[in-house]
Amino acid sequence: MKKNILTGLRPTGNLHLGHYFGACKNYLKLQDDFNFYLEIADVQALTDNFSNPEKVRTNVYEITKDLLAIGLNPDKVHFFIQSKIPEIAELTIFYSNLVTVSRLERNPTVKNEISSKKELFGNNGESITYGFLGYPVSQAADITIFDGEVVPVGDDQLPLLEQCREIVRKFNSIYGNVFKEPQQVLSETTRVKGLDGNEKMGKSLGNAIYLIDDEETIKTKIMAAVTDPNKIKKGDPANPDVCMVFYYHKLVNNNNLDTVCNECKNGHRGCVQCKKELINAMNAFLKPIQEKRKFYDDNPEIVEEILNKGTAQAQEIAKNKMSEVKKAMKIDY
Ligand code: TRP
Ligand code: SF4
Repeated sequence: MKKNILTGLRPTGNLHLGHYFGACKNYLKLQDDFNFYLEIADVQALTDNFSNPEKVRTNVYEITKDLLAIGLNPDKVHFFIQSKIPEIAELTIFYSNLVTVSRLERNPTVKNEISSKKELFGNNGESITYGFLGYPVSQAADITIFDGEVVPVGDDQLPLLEQCREIVRKFNSIYGNVFKEPQQVLSETTRVKGLDGNEKMGKSLGNAIYLIDDEETIKTKIMAAVTDPNKIKKGDPANPDVCMVFYYHKLVNNNNLDTVCNECKNGHRGCVQCKKELINAMNAFLKPIQEKRKFYDDNPEIVEEILNKGTAQAQEIAKNKMSEVKKAMKIDY
């Protein structure tokens, strides 16, 4: 029997190349080997977007369509909406007894997020909400209610997995052996830098290329990308390793990379031409994704059906697990 695997995405924006190369491309392989549950984590998205419900709602559909567009197969992947599984919220409450406030405050992922969201939580994070501080507990419930033994996540999520394992150990030691400790799936993923050369591509950083960007947008973005600052005119030799245009050539242009690299180094290549070639390669890379995405845009009822079907399957598993939990906790009245 295939093992269960679960991962989640917060529906707060469309997928960009950072998501694609950093995580989602890997899902394409995993969907063949595992029983794959993919949670659209709307409840988690609301923990820091509670005043913007419209944004979360819209992005539930946007992100689902993006994931289908990259080639996730709805016959293999169970797409489900977190808020439709009330057992997750229930388990979160039971788990919250097993974790201390100071342990949550020390979670590095949460700490980073608080410092980058000062406007939401106040200057020192002193006004951080109960719900936000507790989202790792809710994420532990997400993972374990589906017996997720392996979780495909990036390194930024490792502290959340560690927190989940601690909760599982505590739960099992008190109530008996109900849950498995999840492990990270190690995969060859790439962290993608932003158009501006920033180590991370992100929506809030304004340096992302989205899978749905049209040709005009791609052109504008790539034309403005950071190149080797020492190259002033066309004939100057340059260093492709410090150039974001070459960096993206490496991601999406498999044909003439050596030529690009050599011509850049020996000064036989102008940046404008080089950017034009990247624009073409990027559009060619995005085209099949966007064609697939258009199919789902034109057929919203199919997307709805995929979500309903996946959610029904997830509900069944969650219900069964919850009866086991309640029995173990002696609240199975
Ligand atoms: N916290 C994850 C993120 O920020 C999303 C997520 C929600 C998740 N539930 C999950 C990841 C369960 C792995 C497993 O992207
Ligand atoms: Fe970058 Fe290409 Fe210009 Fe070299 S020629 S600096 S790789 S844009």
